[in-house]
Amino acid sequence: MSADVTGRADEIIRKLLGWYDREQRAFSFRGTRDPYRVWLSEIMLQQTRTETVGPYYERFLDQFPDVFSLAAAQEEQVLKAWQGLGYYTRARNLHKAARIIVQEHGGRFPGDARGLGKLPGIGPYTAAAIASIAYDEPVPAMDGNLNRVISRLYHFTHEITAPDAARTLRSLGQGLMPPARAGDMNQALMDLGATICLPGTPDCGRCPLQAECLALAQGDPAALPRIRARKPPVQVPVAVVLLECGGRVLLTRRREALLKGMYVFPLREGDDGPEAALALAQRADPGQTFVREETAARHVFTHRVWNMRVYSARVASRAALTGGVWADMETLKRLPLPVAMNAARQAAERLLLAGGD
Ligand code: ADE
Ligand code: SF4
Repeated sequence: MSADVTGRADEIIRKLLGWYDREQRAFSFRGTRDPYRVWLSEIMLQQTRTETVGPYYERFLDQFPDVFSLAAAQEEQVLKAWQGLGYYTRARNLHKAARIIVQEHGGRFPGDARGLGKLPGIGPYTAAAIASIAYDEPVPAMDGNLNRVISRLYHFTHEITAPDAARTLRSLGQGLMPPARAGDMNQALMDLGATICLPGTPDCGRCPLQAECLALAQGDPAALPRIRARKPPVQVPVAVVLLECGGRVLLTRRREALLKGMYVFPLREGDDGPEAALALAQRADPGQTFVREETAARHVFTHRVWNMRVYSARVASRAALTGGVWADMETLKRLPLPVAMNAARQAAERLLLAGGD
């Protein structure tokens, strides 16, 4: 690293930590270095907005105050506590990792980013975030925020998804890690990226790093980072069917990778028409002749959008379907259903409330 870059890094560290001391955002998940708590919050923060995480984090800790209580829980309890956060693979990995920590490490968390990164659900970014916050290990937590802020500070104009770009940005990020307070530095960069050095137009007038920022000096901070246009998400029509019988509706467990293990109403991806819904109904009751359209809903996943039409049918008997649960109102409220099923669940509740008419 050239003397120029190193010298600038020292100034950036000094100014940004000073700014963080004055301006850091108050979150309930901050102010602890307990690796269990830091881990939990960082997993929640992977795909959920910072403002949303707080209440879930506190409720989860009430229920599972330490890694031992989490390891001892049933997977379904963990999924239930996760309900509303989405991306349930995180909850399943959290549970798996808790069991590994208890069974293989006597309840002690791995003491550095390398060890943490071997646990399920912990990638390089999360390992660095946890190790820096809990242990002050000087490793940069390179996510979209840090890549954006750093590419602007150093006027890095290459396409950031290019093969070498990640390595270069990481090494610039590494140069921004102070020997002490690495966790604060990572969180300061995150806060700067979330409140001032924003993805659209950065608010450079309020930025503590104006004098150090090369993109500002060049006059084009909003143009960075350079990112290849992302493919639009695939639009998938989906037929969902609420099969009702004697005050109960049928739920099945997903086998597919998306929402794997979650309870959903019977559904068919790729077709939202009544024929698809009827075919699903006929699996439970071959004598079924029609379905009624109840509502429509849309759910946006990372790379896929479900455009759902929700149908209902009353079936003659609760034939045993493998992997299915005939849920009454109480069970329907108790089981962890994915957010994608919210509209269908509401329609199912209306159906059960309306009862036998
Ligand atoms: N995003 C991920 N981890 C975070 C943290 N510790 N603070 C703020 N935003 C975050
Ligand atoms: Fe980001 Fe502007 Fe600050 Fe540079 S001066 S780091 S572009 S907010």
